[in-house]
Amino acid sequence: MENLLSSAASHETLPENFVFAPDQRPPASAADVALPVIDLARPRDEVRRAVLEAGKELGFFQVVNHGVPEQAVRDIEACCEEFFRLPAADKAAFYSEDTDRPNRLFSSTTYGTGGERYWRDCLRLACRFPVDAAARVAWPDKPARLRSAVEAFVAPARAVGMELLRLLCEGVGLRPDYFEGELSGGDVVVNVNHYPPCPDPERALGLPPHCDRNLITLLLQGGVPGLQVSYRGDWIRVQPVPGAFVVNFGHQLEIATNGLLRSVEHRAAPNAAVPRTSVATFIMPTEDCLVAPAAELVGACNPPRYRAVTFREFMRVYKAVGARRESVEKAFRI
Ligand code: OGA
Ligand code: NI
Repeated sequence: MENLLSSAASHETLPENFVFAPDQRPPASAADVALPVIDLARPRDEVRRAVLEAGKELGFFQVVNHGVPEQAVRDIEACCEEFFRLPAADKAAFYSEDTDRPNRLFSSTTYGTGGERYWRDCLRLACRFPVDAAARVAWPDKPARLRSAVEAFVAPARAVGMELLRLLCEGVGLRPDYFEGELSGGDVVVNVNHYPPCPDPERALGLPPHCDRNLITLLLQGGVPGLQVSYRGDWIRVQPVPGAFVVNFGHQLEIATNGLLRSVEHRAAPNAAVPRTSVATFIMPTEDCLVAPAAELVGACNPPRYRAVTFREFMRVYKAVGARRESVEKAFRI
């Protein structure tokens, strides 16, 4: 519990174990590369083309007019910010370092593979789909509106993800419902990331460079920038667009499309001035789901690039080798 950054009074100096050498934490690019912002209310053909193009080129894009009610977005953002402002004693009840617990509050200050530390706390919520009473009561009961805000948000957010998957299927030549069923049938996991003001943000990281482990991710970045995406050897900053989702592909989508849609590395940078809270919604396969390159996308001149793996086994290996793209590739490439 003493590890939670958001429960400490304030941070005057950056402890040594949070400091990264410049080669481990190169600054973000000065170039102004903007992620495409795709309006999902445009005609479907146009949206399909835009999503596929952005997905192939950058592996990241933003979507607006996505159909999740504005109120639902405002409510979840407000409740999540409020959660991290609760008194330390209220948060302590939910704190756990047991990585097998589906619902918990933890801090990246306890990651410890190489002794390095990250400037981020995280509230992890597992949302069975559809949400039932048992899932709800496993979430924090403070702030009072949090449970209903999460419930009202998760279903429409998941629907946006599923619609994007259908569009991508049509774009790459898979049947539109390819990702229905087991491939997207696991818990929807909501990670609320919280980055308190950091005394030396240029030398620290909120989240290390990583690829997401799931199928597809929808991120509410909030109003404070911090997300940075790997692009042609540089780190580009993602400018916040109010109410938009930042969308990116997880490893499972890369494996299933045999590398056509790539999982791209990203990281989060803290800042000195204001706290930042982001809400990441992960669509996951079921644990037993066998993920493999789709038969439609492999052939004589396009052999499978990844071995088939159950999602459970993938997660076991991912935990052990770390989240860098290179190590995950090494473990699963043929
Ligand atoms: C994540 C993530 C980025 C952010 O939760 O996987 O990449 O800006 N978050 O918080
Ligand atoms: Ni991520």
